[in-house]
Amino acid sequence: MRVITELRLAAKRTFIRVDFNVPVAQNRVADATRIRAALPTIRFAQQQNARVILASHLGRPKGQRTPQASLAPVAAELSGLMGQQVTLAPDCVGAEVEAMVDALVPGHVLLLENLRFHPGEEKNDPDFARALARLADVYVNDAFGTAHRAHASTVGMVAYVPEKAAGLLMHRECEYLGKILYAPDRPLYALLGGAKVSDKLAVLENLLRVVDGMLIGGAMAYTFLRAQGTEVGLSPVEDALLDTAARLTEQARSAGKVLLLPVDHRVARSLDGSAEVEISSPGIPPGRYGVDIGPATERLFASELKKARTIFWNGPMGIFEVEASAHGTMSMVDALIDSGAVTVVGGGDSAAAVMRSGKAERISHVSTGGGATLEFLEGRTLPGIAALEG
Ligand code: 3PG
Repeated sequence: MRVITELRLAAKRTFIRVDFNVPVAQNRVADATRIRAALPTIRFAQQQNARVILASHLGRPKGQRTPQASLAPVAAELSGLMGQQVTLAPDCVGAEVEAMVDALVPGHVLLLENLRFHPGEEKNDPDFARALARLADVYVNDAFGTAHRAHASTVGMVAYVPEKAAGLLMHRECEYLGKILYAPDRPLYALLGGAKVSDKLAVLENLLRVVDGMLIGGAMAYTFLRAQGTEVGLSPVEDALLDTAARLTEQARSAGKVLLLPVDHRVARSLDGSAEVEISSPGIPPGRYGVDIGPATERLFASELKKARTIFWNGPMGIFEVEASAHGTMSMVDALIDSGAVTVVGGGDSAAAVMRSGKAERISHVSTGGGATLEFLEGRTLPGIAALEG
């Protein structure tokens, strides 16, 4: 896979597929993390005097032009971040857009309107892919967060453009996540949480093959605890996965791997933060929900993570959106930082927790992918990455 730094971009129409699928509220970007993460690639292309064309999807407008899914708020945010006006094209294909691209001055940036306003994007339709390719001399994919989608802008168009490369963000994501699966500094630990075992089963199975230790918190721990006969009160348990949880535990132990589950819990009579939070150990009494890992578990996990040289974390330890049950999750941010290990946080809620802590710069890498990060760590080939290879 070539990287953008290996290409000569001067005066070339450089089509950069970015993932600007960001939360928007009241016509404003509510979290610009993904836009910021693409800036190094955009700036690099500008410095090389490329004519920069940015393309992204936003939301799931299902092939319809819907005003709520316009990239206008993204254009405004990007203009602010870059300190220069970024024009938003009225569409992403067609004669008018082609004329705007032709008129682009080297070093300038044009943002195309939402790719998903066209049904051909998600269908990976060859005509739509060719229409996109007409805008490009060079294709760069920096949209790691969308690399698990085989769409026209991530796969189809690549074959029709003379040169292709990964952007700096795509490269960084592949380096960090690839290192976890294929060349970690050991011991390698995974800290996993989140709501359901079923959401993460494939990741759990694949990571268990490569890690030296796995620590499981969050609601998914209740299924593992229940499988060992521990009472979990009103907490959700995936009955259909009790045998799987028992098998994974046994598999880890017989392979000599560390597998730790919570030894105490923050519990409450309701989940919305209105009820008093108490500590319970080792299980959860009847009539109570587990809402977070407990303080002894925080200490246990933090001291185990001190042994690690590489840590991957995905999924919160509790209902961290509610202040009274955020402690476990936030303490794991500190545990990662204090470990001194290479630390990689995989997308979604755990990335949001790191951002909320204000300590993101002390984590080696916070992935911009959600589904893409998990599919990568399941060991699957992501179509958007495969299209850049060869
Ligand atoms: C994401 O946010 O995970 C990516 O942008 C992909 O979006 P999608 O799930 O709508 O394809």
